[in-house]
Amino acid sequence: MVYTAKGGMAVKEEIQALLGPTAVLGRNLLYFEEIRSTNTYAKELAREGAPEGTVVVAGCQTAGRGRMERTFQSPKEKGLYLSALLRPDLPPERLLPVTALAGVALCEAVEKTCGVRPGLKWPNDPVMGGRKLSGILTEMTGGALVLGIGVNVSQSLEDFSPDVASMATSLVIEVGHPVSRAALAASLLEALDRMYQALLAGDLAAYLASYRRDCVNLGRRVQLLSPDGGRETVTAVGIDEAFGLVVRTDSGQERTVCSGEVSVRGLYGYVE
Ligand code: BTN
Repeated sequence: MVYTAKGGMAVKEEIQALLGPTAVLGRNLLYFEEIRSTNTYAKELAREGAPEGTVVVAGCQTAGRGRMERTFQSPKEKGLYLSALLRPDLPPERLLPVTALAGVALCEAVEKTCGVRPGLKWPNDPVMGGRKLSGILTEMTGGALVLGIGVNVSQSLEDFSPDVASMATSLVIEVGHPVSRAALAASLLEALDRMYQALLAGDLAAYLASYRRDCVNLGRRVQLLSPDGGRETVTAVGIDEAFGLVVRTDSGQERTVCSGEVSVRGLYGYVE
């Protein structure tokens, strides 16, 4: 496979210049002007033994991937497309909240860079103005974990394809001024690094509190969609210790739903 690195040095050096001290993330930073998918490449690197903390950033992706076999639109220099390779020595159940935790890290990074904090549509879609701002795709390969994050940075509404245009937004649309992808990348790597240290230490109380504040579904009606096509409208009332969504049925019963079990359709016209 051929990966283009030409022209990428400036962005890579800008990120490195802005990046503060981190324990792990960004130790080994690779920048590509164009790549198929930063997650796919990070998984290849993981299998080849690349060190923990390797980060792959791209100016555009020709085959950006989302959850549920979806594509992630990744136009040239309009978004931040980043994957981090981690090798946590933790039992699988301790890794379950990692995508939700990455959502909180993304909120921190956007707040630091733009002065405005996104919300999180449960389980882990960063949203602004009721539309999807970012996507997070966590994948495991062997013992490695690849955390992929895409953020819409400078797209105008016309840059989104018609099928997502009514559900998507970008930072420039929401904050009304240009946002530096390098500054956002550096803040995101710092926030992911803090999150990863907390995950390893099992010290997630502050992240759970942030998640509960950031979650835009709480107190609102949500429709639960099961894989078998079943639908149920309930009220989202809380987030449990494992980042599950606590819902109350119209008959007053409370139960917790897990992200693998159902999709949630919220206010925003899109289904995660
Ligand atoms: C989703 O919302 O379904 C998740 C989208 C994840 C997109 C990011 S962009 C960087 C990384 N590389 C990929 O191919 N996907 C993730």
